[in-house]
Amino acid sequence: MRTIPDRPWTAEEILQQLETYRQDDMRAEGGRVWAYLYDSGLHHAEAVAREAFMRFQALNALDFTVFPSLLRLENETVQMTAARFHPGPDTVGTFTSGGTESIMLAVKAARDWFRDKRPGVAQPEMVIPVTAHAAFHKAAHWLGLRLRILPVDPVTFTVDPAAVEAAITPETCLIVASAVNYSHGVMDPIEELGRIAERHGVWLHVDACIGGFLLHDLARLGETVPAFDFQVPGVTSLSVDLHKYAYAPKGASVVLFRTRDFRKYQYFACTRWSGYPVLNTTLQSTKSGGPLAGAWAVLHAIGDEGYLQLAKRVLEIRKRLERDLPQRADVRVLGRPQAGLLALASDTIHLFVLADEMRRRGWYVQVQPGRPEYGLDPSLHLTVTPVRDQHLDEFLADFAEAARRTASSQGVDVNAVLSRMEFAQADVDAVLTAAGVGPEGLPQDMAAVNTLLRVLPPELTEQLFIHLANTWFR
Ligand SMILES: Cc1ncc(COP(=O)(O)O)c(C=O)c1O
Repeated sequence: MRTIPDRPWTAEEILQQLETYRQDDMRAEGGRVWAYLYDSGLHHAEAVAREAFMRFQALNALDFTVFPSLLRLENETVQMTAARFHPGPDTVGTFTSGGTESIMLAVKAARDWFRDKRPGVAQPEMVIPVTAHAAFHKAAHWLGLRLRILPVDPVTFTVDPAAVEAAITPETCLIVASAVNYSHGVMDPIEELGRIAERHGVWLHVDACIGGFLLHDLARLGETVPAFDFQVPGVTSLSVDLHKYAYAPKGASVVLFRTRDFRKYQYFACTRWSGYPVLNTTLQSTKSGGPLAGAWAVLHAIGDEGYLQLAKRVLEIRKRLERDLPQRADVRVLGRPQAGLLALASDTIHLFVLADEMRRRGWYVQVQPGRPEYGLDPSLHLTVTPVRDQHLDEFLADFAEAARRTASSQGVDVNAVLSRMEFAQADVDAVLTAAGVGPEGLPQDMAAVNTLLRVLPPELTEQLFIHLANTWFR
């Protein structure tokens, strides 16, 4: 067990040690990780955001009467963000730590709004497509809501509005749409869903966490972007992450509400304990001012014109990938991507092995195991950011070569993997060992792990993940 050192380390020792810890990480800069990272490539914007982050990181947004600068920064950041989504005169919002928090706050608000309307319903329900982000499952889990999960169209990967309408019951408080969804990068039919929400008096949340910021600029560039924001009657709330396509330092998202009458259900106040009065607008109470100042800084450093240029580059790269990848390897693009994301499938190439081949070549491409019970096959996810154009030819060549090497692979034999499990013990350790996952981390090749994720029931894989987190974080 590690303890705090007796003798204080020097700054040099500390930083050296931290660098050794980073040795096995993929590099955050340089555009080789095709998920998780949103790199504008604009060094001046990154530098000023980092500086702003550091200057405000010690301030505590728990009490904006002591730090009024944070109230001002939040109002300005929310307004600059809201302006992209056709706000009404009373559209308001909150700065949060990320997409998941924005979504959880919107779901909480919807639940408590519904409780006011229908106090008799013991467990309100939320209707989501299978493509809705895991954050909605988390919200249901934490907030005690029942989930109705709907399949999506096997060609467009969008939810059928008629199926949503049919799923609504007197216990439904909330329906959900993505603009765009993470797994396939496509938008649900939000105008129809808005009409349904109005007809049934339910809350409609639009998850624009990953797509929203970019969609605004893609529309300005002449792309066809169906209405998805507050211009659609019936849209009650919308989440949009600044730490994605606004390129803010991590810990930055905004949740918007059509009016403050809806937002009030998100807040929490407590004057019943022995200490200071608590007014929390988000999940956190003590809250660093760093991410907020970083986000505010980046919005100013890139500017509206800068975002338009970045969106143009993202669009060009995505279009080139859509055209070139199927020419170079036996893969096809799923659905019709509408923002900066792409999902690839193949009938001949084992995608999990391909992802490992790419990793060996220094690229991270993300495996999506699929949900066979919803007709969703495995796919590879690519997040396009502007810096990708620096290495695009190299990426395409490596992808083609990795696909060629993978084509003869049968993938991982599930039975061979399962036979390594010690069923007698039937505990999660056995599954993890069979997949090559140890107490210190993941194996270098992930195909066996991803194959198991695909074939094992979610009840078991979720337990596995929780067990892993419990092992790795000491
Ligand atoms: C559509 C969508 N919603 C929500 C989230 C969750 O955001 P975060 O990881 O910031 O919590 C993501 C993340 O990729 C997303 O793509």
